[in-house]
Amino acid sequence: MEQYIIKGGTPLRGEVDISGAKNAALAILAAAIMTDETVTIDNLPDVRDINVLLQAIEGIGAVVVRESRNCVKINGGTIRSVTVDYEYIRKIRASYYLLGALLGRFREAEVALPGGCDIGTRPIDQHIKGFKAMGANVKIEHGMIKTKADRLHGNHIYMDVVSVGATINVMLAAALAEGNTILENAAKEPHVVDVANMLNSMGANIKGAGTDVIRIKGVAKLHKTEYSVIPDQIEAGTFMFAAAATKGDILVKNVIPKHLEAITAKLLEIGCTIEEYDDAVRVIGADELYCTQVKTLPYPGYPTDMQPQIVVTLALSKGTSIVTESIFENRFKYVAELNRMGANIKVEGNTAIIDGVSELTGAEINAPDLRAGAALVMAGLAAKGFTIIDDIVYIQRGYENFEEKLKNLGANIEKVTSEKEAMKFKMKVS
Ligand code: UD1
Repeated sequence: MEQYIIKGGTPLRGEVDISGAKNAALAILAAAIMTDETVTIDNLPDVRDINVLLQAIEGIGAVVVRESRNCVKINGGTIRSVTVDYEYIRKIRASYYLLGALLGRFREAEVALPGGCDIGTRPIDQHIKGFKAMGANVKIEHGMIKTKADRLHGNHIYMDVVSVGATINVMLAAALAEGNTILENAAKEPHVVDVANMLNSMGANIKGAGTDVIRIKGVAKLHKTEYSVIPDQIEAGTFMFAAAATKGDILVKNVIPKHLEAITAKLLEIGCTIEEYDDAVRVIGADELYCTQVKTLPYPGYPTDMQPQIVVTLALSKGTSIVTESIFENRFKYVAELNRMGANIKVEGNTAIIDGVSELTGAEINAPDLRAGAALVMAGLAAKGFTIIDDIVYIQRGYENFEEKLKNLGANIEKVTSEKEAMKFKMKVS
């Protein structure tokens, strides 16, 4: 089993290039099979979730050609099945985007119920509500979601909760439905906009993405495109907080600073210095950071996927901070691990009360999910002594080349598979 071993205490310094946004790319890959022409997708992050989805797409008959590590060509003209029962697909959340994409194109889809990180119950009622409003039948049987429409038509759909997944899924199906769809209370995340832009480049007619009302005029056919995925806001934010937590100085490159405003605002509040450029952000940590309060919210609020990273940083900041999680109910599981490293955090319901400590100390800990896993790596980098992190498979789902990028910033981190390799690392860095 792969683990990370880290010797902490070195401030991270230097430059890091941010990869394409995983969550945008997952939906864009699904959109790519909505035409029988060849779609080229660039700036695709080479991470586990993406590779699983590509295998699933191949599994239903599409031709997938990896042009390079970050570029893929997909031809959906040879799709022979609308049933996606690939054994790994249910492990990734975004498998559900194949429902919207296949329903739109073939009026029928069967996809294994999605899994993903265990951060709450994660219902999909809003996706189902959207499909039904467009005339589809939806039923759940034997772990599969099955949907079929004799006529798929536009409708006026009001989302009861702001959901990234449901917004994108309905947008995918509506792109090829008959007539107009108006989607109210839509999610406004940058990746919703990216998927709309990609679909429009394939000939779709989608307006308003990035606001809470999206208008989709269904078209009969989509065509080929070449599209480059936006930079990953969450990967960027993780490195920005890593600069703060390790008292370092990192230039985070290939980003859209506008997408990072909620993160930047919090870093400024706790005492970091920020320099913004056209496509880069520099974060300079401080010897002493201060407490703050934050509540996770849909975009443009502070992202839930950046919650564990700010908690790690506030665990090392002066005073008492309060972090409220309003999106997922089970997202503080990693706090127990952080407390084992010397943090002083109490969780009450959906709130973490953090009394800042002056240092953390290394321990052997588990990564409970993707973002918390990355945050625990940050904690290890800031902590005194050695930290070993198990279950790093979660981290590999969403961070491309994580340890390489960290090493380039001066981190003492190694991926190891045995006690012997861990010992070798300890000798090297001691
Ligand atoms: C996506 C991201 C995830 C991120 C989340 C919120 C992907 C693959 N994942 O997840 O990293 O943390 O957005 O930014 O892009 N909800 C319902 N009914 C539904 C759908 C959602 O009640 O049908 C609720 C959820 O339980 C949650 C909230 O709505 O409380 C937001 O969830 P949603 O935006 O849908 O998250 P995901 O798309 O699953």
